[in-house]
Amino acid sequence: MHKPVLLKEIIEYLNPRANQNFIDCTLGGGGHSLAILKKIEPEGKVLGIDLDKEAIKRLQGIKNLILVQENFANLKLIAEKNNFFPVNPVRKGGSSNSTALSKNKESQGTGLSNGVNGILLDLGLSSDLLEKSGRGFSFLRDEPLDMRFDLNDDLTAEKIINSYEEEELAEIFEKYGEERFSKRIAGKIIESRKTDFIKTTNQLVEVIKKAVPFRFQHSRIHFATRVFQALRIAVNDELGVLRKVLPQAIEILAPEGRLAVISFHSLEDRIVKRFFKEKSGLKIITKKPIRPSLEEVEENARGRSAKLRVAEKL
Ligand SMILES: C[S@@+](CC[C@H](N)C(=O)[O-])C[C@H]1O[C@@H](n2cnc3c(N)ncnc32)[C@H](O)[C@@H]1O
Repeated sequence: MHKPVLLKEIIEYLNPRANQNFIDCTLGGGGHSLAILKKIEPEGKVLGIDLDKEAIKRLQGIKNLILVQENFANLKLIAEKNNFFPVNPVRKGGSSNSTALSKNKESQGTGLSNGVNGILLDLGLSSDLLEKSGRGFSFLRDEPLDMRFDLNDDLTAEKIINSYEEEELAEIFEKYGEERFSKRIAGKIIESRKTDFIKTTNQLVEVIKKAVPFRFQHSRIHFATRVFQALRIAVNDELGVLRKVLPQAIEILAPEGRLAVISFHSLEDRIVKRFFKEKSGLKIITKKPIRPSLEEVEENARGRSAKLRVAEKL
């Protein structure tokens, strides 16, 4: 079962109180959502979003938890469809600057009496995806090279590895994995592809091993880590969806509502940091990112690289 990272800190910074409403954009095992739900009883609601069908299935039937299997890149639309916007008085006609969807809801006088008080993004992989999905997220298991969060998407890691040009592969490993041997690895992939398709995680690890010099094969971080991270980011357009969701989250939040983002590598953290700095109408609550305590990291290694940033809508 996935153990939520920085749970105590999320509760402290989002400060959920009775009858407030929250959006969890990355439901996963539901650890954060369930803790928030307890604090917002009796009337508060959590809108839980995840691309992964299994995550949604596991959490069905919980009171005041609304589940949506969707990409958080479409946050505003998802929120509108589920009445997660402040309640509007019943009025004839509707305002000129709202979308057709919200106009329709306004005329019914629906929405949330407290608005949306907090939004959470806990990026990356859940332990369930890593260990049980069979989609090749981990180089420690021999599985098909898939890496999709959303099984309806066409692009898989296998497609990238077996069809992209050498330069494109090297660019992905360099840009999304900050991999120092990206060119050599891309070269070995092309060479190996000439004789056989690379279809599994083990096959890919073997190819990477041939490209990485021996003395770098025993560092603290496994030599395949960066390529696997890069592929996952490329398959799911993880940086693109993060850039899309941040302004939508701020738009949806009620005044004084907070956005909390937990990221797991510097590429994501940089995007969040810059957005918080450049976006007007935001108060940065965490001047420096919050890191898990030593005790937490000892208990849950996944938290090792986590960084939490929080901002408040003015
Ligand atoms: C780190 S886990 C969340 C764990 C969760 N906070 C908990 O405590 O159990 C991230 C989740 O986000 C989902 N996810 C990743 N990208 C997504 C996207 N663009 N849209 C919706 N869900 C996404 C993944 O499927 C995964 O279940």
